[in-house]
Amino acid sequence: MVKLSVNLNKIATLRNARGGNIPNLLQVAKDVQSFGCHGITLHPRPDERHITYKDVYDIRSVIVTELNIEGRPTDKFMELVLNVKPDQVTLVPDLDNVITSNSGWNPIIYQDFLKKKIKKLKESGIRTSIFLNPNPEFIPFVKKIGADRIELYTGYFSIGYFKKKWNCIDPYIKTALKAINYHIKVNAGHDLDLDNISFLIKKIPFIEEVSIGHSLISEALYMGLENTIQSYLKRIQT
Ligand code: PXP
Repeated sequence: MVKLSVNLNKIATLRNARGGNIPNLLQVAKDVQSFGCHGITLHPRPDERHITYKDVYDIRSVIVTELNIEGRPTDKFMELVLNVKPDQVTLVPDLDNVITSNSGWNPIIYQDFLKKKIKKLKESGIRTSIFLNPNPEFIPFVKKIGADRIELYTGYFSIGYFKKKWNCIDPYIKTALKAINYHIKVNAGHDLDLDNISFLIKKIPFIEEVSIGHSLISEALYMGLENTIQSYLKRIQT
């Protein structure tokens, strides 16, 4: 079964726009879990412009599903996740001055850096994943780094989906199959929505988990959160 992890950064962004506590992030975290999602993803960025570090500590106590924390492995981020001990940590490059994550790691260039971070997380009993562009040649390096999973950056897929579905999915299928051969499990995320998710899951049915934020929250403006989550759950059933 493919799991749906709901990224709550957009809820925090809305709250931060007014500086108060509306919408109430903790209540939303409880609600999305009661609506059937399999997990929650939080992505504290170095400037805390969406989810704050304090949010992460607060939300921990209301998690009854799985918590995935993703982000750039700065010292502050590592301290946070080693204290909070989520079920999964996804390492993301998070370059400076980007609006949102726009690329995965190059595990060849960052091999030593990532290996050290992954080792620390694994010693703490946390499942690890690294955000990766679709490129099968990267997989042996991910193995050397020691990550349990990859999260395929699906930004390119979401753009290509409207042009040439088959061309854009091909590198994802090849990378995912190679990962499985290397006993590395596969997550996926970024720019997934109710339109493109079914095709992705149909072509790579062994994806473990998708993490979705921006479109899911935007779709919920029209459909409501519960209905939107239920719609995703139907589409990711394999
Ligand atoms: N995965 C990673 C690593 C991300 O950085 C993000 C955005 O925070 C997502 C998934 C979710 O992307 P989206 O908000 O486009 O659904």
